[in-house]
Amino acid sequence: AAPDVARLKALVGEAALAYVPPGSVVGVGTGSTVNAFIDALARAKHVIAGAVSSSQASSERLRGHGIPVIDANDVETLQVYIDGADEIDASGCMIKGGGAALTREKIVADLAQRFVCIADGSKLVDVLGRFPLPVEVIPMAAAQVARRFVALGGRPALRAGVVTDNGGQILDVHGLAITDPAALEAEINQWPGVVSVGIFARNRANVCLLGTAAGVRTLT
Ligand code: A5P
Repeated sequence: AAPDVARLKALVGEAALAYVPPGSVVGVGTGSTVNAFIDALARAKHVIAGAVSSSQASSERLRGHGIPVIDANDVETLQVYIDGADEIDASGCMIKGGGAALTREKIVADLAQRFVCIADGSKLVDVLGRFPLPVEVIPMAAAQVARRFVALGGRPALRAGVVTDNGGQILDVHGLAITDPAALEAEINQWPGVVSVGIFARNRANVCLLGTAAGVRTLT
């Protein structure tokens, strides 16, 4: 299955170019699907003014193609943010953070007027939560935040050996059926020590380009 998934990621990475205004500063996410997008930008010689990036990994890849990386504090708004997801539902709500970059991803998504999600078809779900929910926490609060998740019926696990770009730790919470993503996102955001939660409901996708065997399926 692996080569097929890679082909679907390449397909949607390429399709995302149509959403990128030439000469603009583009928000760029993280992950293997975004890597396909970055490579497609360079291959198509689709010239952009620069990128606001959500991770060290994406910044390095962008610079490798000669695309300037711009500090998030130096832009007021972005026309578009392109990123992948670990799960997405039909309304564009997502689980993100499989790559541990969720905090910066949410910051860049929040700067953007439009979130274009690129994903292979396996990421589309009816109810979010089969993918363990990533939550970035201040290390001092990890145990207390984990207890709160247990009280909600979740099974949190500390992602071993991972320190985020911001010096935080990641809890992966198994066993949640997220029937109201906006309400759960708002609730978790209030817990002391939570840096950010991998539910993207407030910053949901406006467009999703799904790679399927039949081609690119566009959800709006
Ligand atoms: C990174 O923290 C995640 O939010 C990614 O968007 C997600 O893991 C998608 O990655 P792939 O494109 O590699 O599937």
